[in-house]
Amino acid sequence: MVNQQTSKQTAGHPSGDKRFKLLEVAMKRHQYRHDALIEVLHKAQELFGYLEDDLLYFVSKRLKLPPSRVYGVATFYHFFTLKPKGRHSCVVCTGTACFVKGADELLECVRDEIGISPGETTGDGGVSLLTARCIGACGNAPVVVYDEEIVGHQTNEDIRSQVKGWTIGSDGA
Ligand code: FES
Repeated sequence: MVNQQTSKQTAGHPSGDKRFKLLEVAMKRHQYRHDALIEVLHKAQELFGYLEDDLLYFVSKRLKLPPSRVYGVATFYHFFTLKPKGRHSCVVCTGTACFVKGADELLECVRDEIGISPGETTGDGGVSLLTARCIGACGNAPVVVYDEEIVGHQTNEDIRSQVKGWTIGSDGA
């Protein structure tokens, strides 16, 4: 487990994940309009890398739309990614600040270490790699989200050791 600069975020969602707060700002900008659902889901995917059930439920509650409608839209359009298949997820932020600090190198390290590119999952179903665009922690760039944990100041060695540990351990946890 990578253990440096962990940011357990505050506010916006019971989880304390700051990304929900950023999503809330985006929904507010759209005045919580129902017809802004696709834009809101785009923003959610930018922030989280993929749309998992909890996130879709959050959007449905805030926009006051039935969960079935939100889920239906998320599954209908090919440009939305639902929860990744891997037991573990590695989301590399490729927003400007993280890009400048070497996010592309981090992605290259994952490719080199476990042979997957963004949007792919290892053959054993252990790890999925995704990208997100600015998750609101630019001061800690480059940032990676390992499962649900936002971790800043990632080095090539950090990400290599994390994803390698997941594949070697194959613990399914
Ligand atoms: S660009 Fe990565 S957190 Fe903002």
